[in-house]
Amino acid sequence: MKVLHIVMLASFLATQASADVIELTVRADQPGDRISRYLYGQFAEHLGRGIYEGVWVGEDSAIPNTRGIRNDVIDALKQLHIPVVRWPGGCFADEYHWRDGIGPRDQRPVRINTHWGWVEEDNAFGTHEFFDFIEQIGSEAYIAGNAGSGPPREMAQWLEYMTADNDTTLARLRRANGRDEPWKVPFFGVGNESWGCGGNMTPAYYADVYNRYATFLKAPSGNQPKLVASGGSGEQTEWTEELAANTRARMDGISHHYYTLPTGNWSAKGRATGFGEEEWLTTLRNTMRIDDYLSHNEAVLDKHDPDGNVGIYLDEWGTWYDAEPGSNAGFLYQQNSIRDAVVAALNFNIFHRHARRLHMANIAQTVNVLQAVVLTDGPKILRTPTYHAFEMYVPFQDATFVPVDLVSSPEIRVQDEALPQISASAAIAESGELILSLVNLHPSEPVKVRADLWGFEIGSIDTRVLAGDSIDAHNTFDNPDAVMPAPLAVVRKSNGVSMLLPAHSVAVMKISAE
Ligand code: AHR
Repeated sequence: MKVLHIVMLASFLATQASADVIELTVRADQPGDRISRYLYGQFAEHLGRGIYEGVWVGEDSAIPNTRGIRNDVIDALKQLHIPVVRWPGGCFADEYHWRDGIGPRDQRPVRINTHWGWVEEDNAFGTHEFFDFIEQIGSEAYIAGNAGSGPPREMAQWLEYMTADNDTTLARLRRANGRDEPWKVPFFGVGNESWGCGGNMTPAYYADVYNRYATFLKAPSGNQPKLVASGGSGEQTEWTEELAANTRARMDGISHHYYTLPTGNWSAKGRATGFGEEEWLTTLRNTMRIDDYLSHNEAVLDKHDPDGNVGIYLDEWGTWYDAEPGSNAGFLYQQNSIRDAVVAALNFNIFHRHARRLHMANIAQTVNVLQAVVLTDGPKILRTPTYHAFEMYVPFQDATFVPVDLVSSPEIRVQDEALPQISASAAIAESGELILSLVNLHPSEPVKVRADLWGFEIGSIDTRVLAGDSIDAHNTFDNPDAVMPAPLAVVRKSNGVSMLLPAHSVAVMKISAE
């Protein structure tokens, strides 16, 4: 049956591929919501080699660093204009006690990271190091507080330690530890995955936990963080429902998590490389399910919060594969191919359409963990295809959404479902340029695309494409630039553009106004 399906799939793709020109209309005459830069956020957890080795090498390391934070990673991340980093977890957040991570490093306690590999956590990277890291990359903080194993007082005092601007004992302690001015804490999460690793709670029980903890989260005026409740995952809506209906403390957002598994099966998720066309397609199909999951949770919020004050924070998303052979399974280290870049771009295009209610999204995770933008090996570093997708999409940050109508587009069948062959998104950037992204989901066939622009006179055009020479093309430490953005030829026709979009590719076009 499976063989038959694959044969049918192959012949279908072959007949679908060549013929059509995909036509689309970019409606610059119908500007919509602002695409928040926070949709391009990152998530960095104390997990595997994400923080230790990936970000923190220590001041005495032979790897060039600034106050212990590796310079090559900072240089790479700065180019992504990362708006926000969520830290310290993840599951780690609900067993993290912030006082372990302040003061002289040689006196900090050593704990066990019980979630991730049962390894020693020496707390060398704590609050001061985190803020140094995000200041070096020009980003903002999204702190995930411990609502699972710490009391409300501990959480409230962490916020006070970070934000106090007077002469309290905690402010003095922060100053004694080297930081005079309070830090800005724009976002604070109350626990993580409280349905699972964060405490195995029910939605109703957690809603009261949230009410209790959030009541005591106070900061000086002008530095009051947006408070984010821990919500559901995947297709779930019951956490959003419960929290939207029964929260009495201030709540600015509800988190949601969604991971793309090629097979959809947690015990055999699929490989990061070396997969076939069918798994390529199921990966993209599973990725696009987030569109419905967001819509369903938005409908719940629209019922309880019609003015749109409470946002969805998709603060963990990305691919999750079987661990790389030979790596520690608890470290969640995986390669990253052009498929991951396509997954990222599909997510971005979906996120843009949900910009009204989706206030933040954070890819899991920044370095060496899951769908990382950067991988390291000792002193070596590489930028993954996902990195390049993020970099190409920078102009979408804080841009104004404009709709794209697909006039004609063939579909690709995946088992008993259909995927559009291309995904497109457009916006007017803060620079005034029109930004158009196009993703060719087809694993093996290029496609001709014609885009007509309404309400925008075309000036100069700059287009880059990310493709690679196979569906699992990826960068290695020996060949770190195998998958890199390259210029794409575009033909201008009246007030439209045409191009041949390579198979399995992501293109971003910047069009200046005439
Ligand atoms: O990102 C890895 C883990 O996935 C996070 O710690 C947890 O929140 C989620 O289950």
